[in-house]
Amino acid sequence: LFGDQQQIWLFGYGSLIYKVDFDYLERRPAHIENWTRRFWQGSHDHRGTPDAPGRVATLIEKPGAICKGMAYLNTPAVFDHLDHREKNGYLRFTTEMTFDNGDTAQGLVYIATEENAAFLGPASAYDIARHIKSSTGPSGPNDEYLLKLESALRDMQADDEHVFEIASHLREL
Ligand code: BEZ
Repeated sequence: LFGDQQQIWLFGYGSLIYKVDFDYLERRPAHIENWTRRFWQGSHDHRGTPDAPGRVATLIEKPGAICKGMAYLNTPAVFDHLDHREKNGYLRFTTEMTFDNGDTAQGLVYIATEENAAFLGPASAYDIARHIKSSTGPSGPNDEYLLKLESALRDMQADDEHVFEIASHLREL
């Protein structure tokens, strides 16, 4: 798929922001435009089970939106590792990313769309918080995913109303 010597930017917006189990050449905060992070994807294999899927982030197209994430410069081998780690049938596409200094580069992004068998779609922030609170899977409790993501986004000064609202409901449950 990629040439041997190639270096490819990967844009992470979910667990890739805080869970880095691969080597990379460079790591830089970045954002992409016209996409927004939503807890609309079911997780059968990480934060839930096939019978009781958890909820994890995917990206939804939204004109004018900005999604902050973390970009990793990688060699092609990393993508074999990630394809294995993310077995839930994510699609990959490339989009422009903007780094904090204004530089841009093309980045590869993994998303689950509504075509994905595990896609759950919208629910209220409160219902998503309750769902997350009651889910757990082989990678650990679903609320750990949410709270680690929230904390990483706050550290990056990323504004994310959707994630912050779900996290604040979760703390009140
Ligand atoms: C991400 O953090 O970008 C991500 C993680 C797992 C699957 C798809 C995307």
